[in-house]
Amino acid sequence: MHLSSRLPQGFEPNALTAALTHLRAQGREVLDLTVSNPTRCGFDHPEAEIRQALSQPAVLAYDPDPQGARAAREAIAFHHGHGLRAEDLLLTASTSEGYGLLFKLLGDPGDEVLVPSPSYPLFEWLARLEGLKARPVPSYFHDRWHLDLGALEAAMSTRTRAVVVVNPNNPTGHFLTKTEWTALTAFCARHQLSLLVDEVFADYVLEPGENRLATALLDPEPPCPVFLLSGLSKVAALPQLKLGWIATRGPGAATGLEALAFLADQYLSVSAPVQAAAPRLLQLAHAIRPQVQERLRANLATLDAALAGQPHLSRLPVEGGWSVLLRRPAVDADEACALRVLEEASVLVHPGSFFDLPGDGHLILSLLTGESGFREGLHRIFPWL
Ligand SMILES: Cc1ncc(COP(=O)(O)O)c(C=O)c1O
Repeated sequence: MHLSSRLPQGFEPNALTAALTHLRAQGREVLDLTVSNPTRCGFDHPEAEIRQALSQPAVLAYDPDPQGARAAREAIAFHHGHGLRAEDLLLTASTSEGYGLLFKLLGDPGDEVLVPSPSYPLFEWLARLEGLKARPVPSYFHDRWHLDLGALEAAMSTRTRAVVVVNPNNPTGHFLTKTEWTALTAFCARHQLSLLVDEVFADYVLEPGENRLATALLDPEPPCPVFLLSGLSKVAALPQLKLGWIATRGPGAATGLEALAFLADQYLSVSAPVQAAAPRLLQLAHAIRPQVQERLRANLATLDAALAGQPHLSRLPVEGGWSVLLRRPAVDADEACALRVLEEASVLVHPGSFFDLPGDGHLILSLLTGESGFREGLHRIFPWL
């Protein structure tokens, strides 16, 4: 069979995943410090209310609107605030699908998008599957993570169509500053680029950050087209319900939204049940998010207490999000370290290289892990770092 060149050459798992599968096949219990699935973390989701929201009479009606059901968009606009209106929104089945639609909207095959590095590793494939090339723009760490405007200029070419930022970023947890936002939007305006802002983690704020841009929606009139992405998978910790959205602002927003609706109309991929349930689910999210927030804070405190006895280890600040970066002496490759930890301590952690952290010396831990598992996992991995 001929396969598109947009696909990878092979589908073999990486060494860490292969080792994990092997150990589990042997019956080994592995403690997972990388869990990102909030339905598997022991949160007390209001089950009866979620079921009820998904079983109203409206879930049986098919009345497709390519932009998404008006009532759902109104509830999402209310969730965000900052003057966002239902007409500024388009619903998707996930944030990942939102990226796919935006890349189709903004680029021709061979065009480029600038993506943050380190960051969420899916960008390369989400871009490539739409025929685009993702060019990394390295951020640098100096007391905090910084957007490197020089690196942004250097990564820019005549084929660049858009810039992606993640606010707060995954896995570094840093927010953009307001100053960086002004510079970034001016850069995009100057080069006629669209700006995609992924704010899936924006509700999860942990440690203070100076001059923080809490959300791109603080800017009522950005000088470039801005597309904000988010979804229920983090906002309500309900990834299984498959609802994301794109909000637009800035010059050309109405045209962009009209074209996005045309694209969405080809698929109509958002289910009627989740659209009907969205207003109630967003209310229920007020009971879910604090549990997640509490877990993140508790695990961070556990980590700090454990690190106090480990002078060769430290962690980076966590302004927001669900992850923390653990620093260790870079005596070997992070991937080799993660393999050692898996084999010797039966604990799964991610090496920094999975998220394009430069050099070695970083492991990534999920703060979503159950509290006793997190404590036990730290205890088990420290001797191997
Ligand atoms: C930064 C970022 N954006 C998007 C997503 C995907 O969200 P969704 O489940 O809505 O596709 C993730 C998932 O972890 C993420 O980390």
